Amino acid sequence: MIVGLVQTAPQFGDRLANQKQIENLTADLDADLWIAPELALTGYEFRNRAEAMELAEEVPAGPTCVWLQDFCRDRNCLAVLGLSERDGDKVYNAAVLMSPEGLLGRYRKIHLFDAEKLRFDPGNLPFSVFDTGKARIGLMICFDWRFPEAARTLALRGAQIIAHPSNLVMPFCQKAMVTRALENNVFCATANRIGEERRTGRIMKFTGGSQIVAPDGEVLRSCACDATVAFILDIDPRQADNKKVGPYNNVHGDRRPEFYAP
Ligand code: ACM
Repeated sequence: MIVGLVQTAPQFGDRLANQKQIENLTADLDADLWIAPELALTGYEFRNRAEAMELAEEVPAGPTCVWLQDFCRDRNCLAVLGLSERDGDKVYNAAVLMSPEGLLGRYRKIHLFDAEKLRFDPGNLPFSVFDTGKARIGLMICFDWRFPEAARTLALRGAQIIAHPSNLVMPFCQKAMVTRALENNVFCATANRIGEERRTGRIMKFTGGSQIVAPDGEVLRSCACDATVAFILDIDPRQADNKKVGPYNNVHGDRRPEFYAP
């Protein structure tokens, strides 16, 4: 299965320009699954909840999902992308898994980062894994990396690939995702953005370094910190099904949850 990551520098509030950027970066590459960053078409630093709501869309009726389905149809692929989702008077930092036929899955960020708590409602859907026929794909978003339970839950629910749209500002995540991959024996694919936003009197500098990590913790491919770029990589998702570590151990089977209660 060919997995593609696209690392962008979104322009705040310019959905069409940000769509074009993804189309251009991926134009010459064929992937079965494309993964784009968190809030990929809006930008990140909303001034307040009203602005997050203004740029939010219904899933899957809104223009971002319509465009993404067209992208999947044109390219005969699946795609994961982060967006601001409106549902009645709620607004979520969300991600969708799209196919040429339509929406396959959605996720609403459970662990909101920093001032996101002022802008979004906390996610209210369980960590979910979607069987696409080509791979079982689990979704988490950016700061979820800081909570090992996120990746663990997805892995226990059968994910072979964790698709991880991100807008990272701290330097630790890329290293942490090596551990998330290793401790769960899953592929972890983090699609990050680059660039800066200065919309609220502070500088948000995004760290790039998008990467795909193998179940054995090897970073198979990673991007620069300062370039808009896309790459594709051929992986075998079944590699994530073997949870054995040597002849005696198993990263899932050897768990002792009866000793883990706080
Ligand atoms: C983040 O969760 N966007 C840092």
